[in-house]
Amino acid sequence: MAKKEPIQIAVVGSGYVGLVAALCFAEMGHSVICVDNDERKVAALQGGDTLIHENHLPELMERYRNTKVRFTTDLAEATRESSAIFVAVGTPQSESGDADLSYVEAVAGEIARSINGYKVIIEKSTVPVYTNEWIRRVIERNGVKQDAFDVVSNPEFLREGTAVEDFLHPDRIVVGADSTRAFELLSSIYLPLTEGTYYSAAHAIPGCCSETKLPPLLLTSTKSAEIIKHASNAFLALKISFINAVSNLCEAADANVEQVASGIGLDSRIGPKFLKPGIGYGGSCFPKDVASFRSVAAQMGVDFTLLHEVEKININQKRRFLSKVRSALWTLRGKRLAVLGLAFKGDTDDIRESPAIDLVEMLLTEGCIIAAYDPAAMERSALELPASANLRYADSVEDAARDADALLILTDWTEFGKLDLIQLNGIMRYPIIVDGRNMYDTQEMLDSGFTYLSIGRPTVTPLREALKPTLSALGTVL
Ligand code: UGA
Repeated sequence: MAKKEPIQIAVVGSGYVGLVAALCFAEMGHSVICVDNDERKVAALQGGDTLIHENHLPELMERYRNTKVRFTTDLAEATRESSAIFVAVGTPQSESGDADLSYVEAVAGEIARSINGYKVIIEKSTVPVYTNEWIRRVIERNGVKQDAFDVVSNPEFLREGTAVEDFLHPDRIVVGADSTRAFELLSSIYLPLTEGTYYSAAHAIPGCCSETKLPPLLLTSTKSAEIIKHASNAFLALKISFINAVSNLCEAADANVEQVASGIGLDSRIGPKFLKPGIGYGGSCFPKDVASFRSVAAQMGVDFTLLHEVEKININQKRRFLSKVRSALWTLRGKRLAVLGLAFKGDTDDIRESPAIDLVEMLLTEGCIIAAYDPAAMERSALELPASANLRYADSVEDAARDADALLILTDWTEFGKLDLIQLNGIMRYPIIVDGRNMYDTQEMLDSGFTYLSIGRPTVTPLREALKPTLSALGTVL
């Protein structure tokens, strides 16, 4: 039986998943020790710095730092003091495409050496199937008896930018456990959400769940839970690549992908989400997880070449965007471009695997002169792509756009969808916008005097529109 009482939890790793989980478990009423082996990071967290740009995180940090959440480098002590130990360390991609599990292994070994009673060790990081079994083996090899611990898989489905809300208002909570005792502990941890007491609390962060709409808790085997995480991300990536491929077809047929996406998304079996075409998916999860899932399948002798196609379409999408810029400007060398957006998506400062960064690199190689602006990701971008004779980080949209030959929208920040188009037209050298995120209605762009190229929709240009009556009188097909 799940129990309604605060549980002492350790969270190992203070990255996106670890830090959000630690603060959200505190928000749910538990006591948390958040462990990281990076002393500088821990010192910053102890000082109240959240280190990442994420909604609600500063307020949770303020509320629980030094009360319900402690930050430390001491994993041994955290293990001894806690009943549930969540492992949320990085699983970067290795050369072969596999997830590198050396951090997970190191943590498992250290936990094993400090176990002083029954513990549940929970995989929160995204890991390939069978990792659970490996963790179990590592702990046993370190002399811990089988009945002194259980290993559970509890994948996390939060998105950057809405991480806290996603954690506290999940579509589902998946617990992969092969023992009742471990499942009960996990059920107790999530009880404030699954019973809804959290949603009636005065301090509750609002979201889609409520006392009448509770998140379901799904009990599966550990292996199924591991596959659920990989399969979810791979399916979402597939959905994006699918609509991107459809957008290419729309361009060839002079159709409009937004209309097509609405038409297919209204089918409740398909759904409208993750059907936004663009310059390809990026971030720290989809590219890595699709590669890792493909590699796991190959190792098990399963033909999953579909995932290879998903990756191929994603890479191609960036090349197509580059061709679009070229088609708007004819030649690229020496052209001055305003680039709006560097983060892999809006509402985050994360530039890992950002298609925007890849495109800036490709455009620089083509000899373009770039003024880039992003509301949050410029500091991180400057570390990866330092300012140079051909790359300048601008102070604002206007600063980037001044005298530009064209403006490119590469990240879907809300503010990039509300630009003052008339003012922009006045300060740019040529009124050309190439939008990789379809943030505008094509007619609105036309009305503001822009030549507007977007994804999967017909290009509009004031000149061509003005000539339309004359050309049609002459019988010219536009
Ligand atoms: C993704 C998943 O959405 C989360 O459920 C998962 O927990 C997380 O990975 C993870 O494994 O940790 P995230 O990487 O934060 O979350 O970002 P998403 O919002 O999923 O976007 C990923 C990429 O797809 C972005 O580059 C975004 O611009 C792109 N995208 C998304 C599209 O191009 N079109 C869409 O319709 C949706």
